[in-house]
Amino acid sequence: MRTQVAIIGGGPSGLLLSQLLHRKGIDTVVLERKTRDYVLGRIRAGILETGFVNLMREAGVADRMDKECFVHDGTVISHGDTQFTIDFKDLTDTSVVVYGQTEVTRDLYDAREAMDGTVIFNAENVQIHGADSDAPHVTYTTDGDEHRIDCDFVAGCDGFHGVSRQTIPLTVRREYEKLYPFGWLGILSETPPVHDELIYSCSSRGFALCSMRNENLSRYYIQCSLSDSPDDWSDDAFWQELKRRIPSEYADKLVTGPSIEKSIAPLRSFVTEPMRWGRLFLCGDAAHIVPPTGAKGLNTAASDIHYLYNGLIQHYLDGDDTGIDTYSEKALARIWKAERFSWWMTNLLHRFPDQSEFDLKMQAADIAFLRDNRAAQTVLAQNYVGLPY
Ligand code: PHB
Repeated sequence: MRTQVAIIGGGPSGLLLSQLLHRKGIDTVVLERKTRDYVLGRIRAGILETGFVNLMREAGVADRMDKECFVHDGTVISHGDTQFTIDFKDLTDTSVVVYGQTEVTRDLYDAREAMDGTVIFNAENVQIHGADSDAPHVTYTTDGDEHRIDCDFVAGCDGFHGVSRQTIPLTVRREYEKLYPFGWLGILSETPPVHDELIYSCSSRGFALCSMRNENLSRYYIQCSLSDSPDDWSDDAFWQELKRRIPSEYADKLVTGPSIEKSIAPLRSFVTEPMRWGRLFLCGDAAHIVPPTGAKGLNTAASDIHYLYNGLIQHYLDGDDTGIDTYSEKALARIWKAERFSWWMTNLLHRFPDQSEFDLKMQAADIAFLRDNRAAQTVLAQNYVGLPY
């Protein structure tokens, strides 16, 4: 098989790139290790920056999102007895959109199917060959049969554990990582959200987040120990703990119900440099991870796709390689800022096991400054709604 761009990974980044390129007449093949149902079974974040929303529009897949999404003009931050709103709209004239990553992915699969795009599921043993040559190719197996795709470029959209990053030799690749000493226990429940904005809450018992997917689907998280397993937490224990970590006015009106999903995610900051090696380009989680505080995971993947997509159309339509040659540099410049923001929000709002009395005072002062200072709020808002591409 031959294609112009072989895309490894059928998550939102790979599908979005495929869809965008297809509309410019550039041929792609997407290889996905799992099935469509498996990919759509993963519950991920749900906050989209305007840049992401615009890419979905450009890809022609925004109809359902535009109808069903919630626009959020602000968010609540609480710390002990203090709570205040960061008004994105007032501070930056921009908002964010609540629409689940699962729904984004579903819309992209439907669009790819409608355009007869090639997405190969259950592709195992994927290997990228000759990425540093002029003629790369990708091999994989399905049902034990080996296949080969010759291509011009390879987009590595296969996540943190994928093969793409590992393909870049260690002599070229440099990785930066920070692990946090806690995880997030998240549940999804068919209950109305406790508030019409998200609530990021720092309490003496640890962090909690109240989020949502729609008017009858709520997503809640609590900071938990890395040694916890979801089975250690009954629904009842989760709701009790959540209520103790959020301001009483919300705890009192929280509607609880059975969880329909419950999982724990560890928190990690990670960046690999460079994001390009020859004709291989890394995108999204394949190149970087942020802790979820700040909701930057999917949104940083989207900015990578934006830079790569524009570089590839410049290459194919104008014969100009400037965009692909500067891809890594441009993507990383924005990524590091999102890394800084996510790291800062994580430090601001969580309880750390080794925090001293002094550290706690610093955290409280940081929050008090944010509550009282419009410039500090503007900095948070600018980062939360998304830095420019
Ligand atoms: C979510 O709704 O899953 C969510 C929202 C905001 C975050 C992280 C996760 O910062």
